[in-house]
Amino acid sequence: MNEVVEKALRGMALLPVSNIRHWTDRTFSFSAERPAGFRFRSGEFAMIGLMVEGKPLLRAYSIASPSWAEHLEFYSIKVDDGPLTSRLQSIQEGDQIVMRPKPVGTLVHDALLPAKRLFLFSTGTGIAPFASVIRDPDTYERFEEVVLTQTCRDVGELDYGHALMKEVREDELLREVVGDKLRFLATTTRQPSELMGRMTDWIRDGRFAEATGAPLNPETDRVMICGSMAMLQDHKALCEAAGMLEGSNSEPGHFVIEKAFVD
Ligand code: A2P
Repeated sequence: MNEVVEKALRGMALLPVSNIRHWTDRTFSFSAERPAGFRFRSGEFAMIGLMVEGKPLLRAYSIASPSWAEHLEFYSIKVDDGPLTSRLQSIQEGDQIVMRPKPVGTLVHDALLPAKRLFLFSTGTGIAPFASVIRDPDTYERFEEVVLTQTCRDVGELDYGHALMKEVREDELLREVVGDKLRFLATTTRQPSELMGRMTDWIRDGRFAEATGAPLNPETDRVMICGSMAMLQDHKALCEAAGMLEGSNSEPGHFVIEKAFVD
């Protein structure tokens, strides 16, 4: 490795990838080798990317695998003119990604006060941190009910979430821990499907309360939100209107938010 590249890589890990899967023409997932000694909390993100012209090109990616898993998993959007994803989408088995091994984030249990129900609201690839949270046994020790929601434009974009739910149901250890505590509400906004509409609209017009048994309540409920900037703002406003306070690692609260990776 030449000196310039070596310098650029200081403190970073080079990780071979495997298990690349293209879910739709807009999304794909892959696994990366987990460096020895790399620890993270389920729901956190890390800076990952590729070496481009001798320099690391990094973006914040939620780790989609739970903290106990052997491999790191990532779920990504493909943006044709996106600096990173235009390249990352053609990654092949055995190629290497770069990772700065310093995980951070607020979509973690430490940022939420104890309660009964946990809602994980996502749009598009915003489901990634929750793929980690719903596969962590700790989630079911802390909450009696866990409801994951994902809203996408088209039905095909929900495949990743459905596959994830199947994996949880079929995993010998997880299925015991999860029991019937976990639900997935998957909605579309542009292509017809069984459940339609933005989850924000569901919360406003009562469909959410009907589907889950009660409206959002700071006494009983905690919320994690991941999606676009506009989606975060809308969900945040709804949480605040319900009397919820935003939490952080240093001051746990009722809800936490994080922007899903975009380019
Ligand atoms: P819509 O089709 O009504 O815009 P995108 O692919 O643009 O990131 O959107 C992913 C999903 O998030 C779409 O179903 C989109 O619905 C929905 N969405 C976009 N903006 C918001 C918002 N502000 N609040 C809730 N859902 C949103």
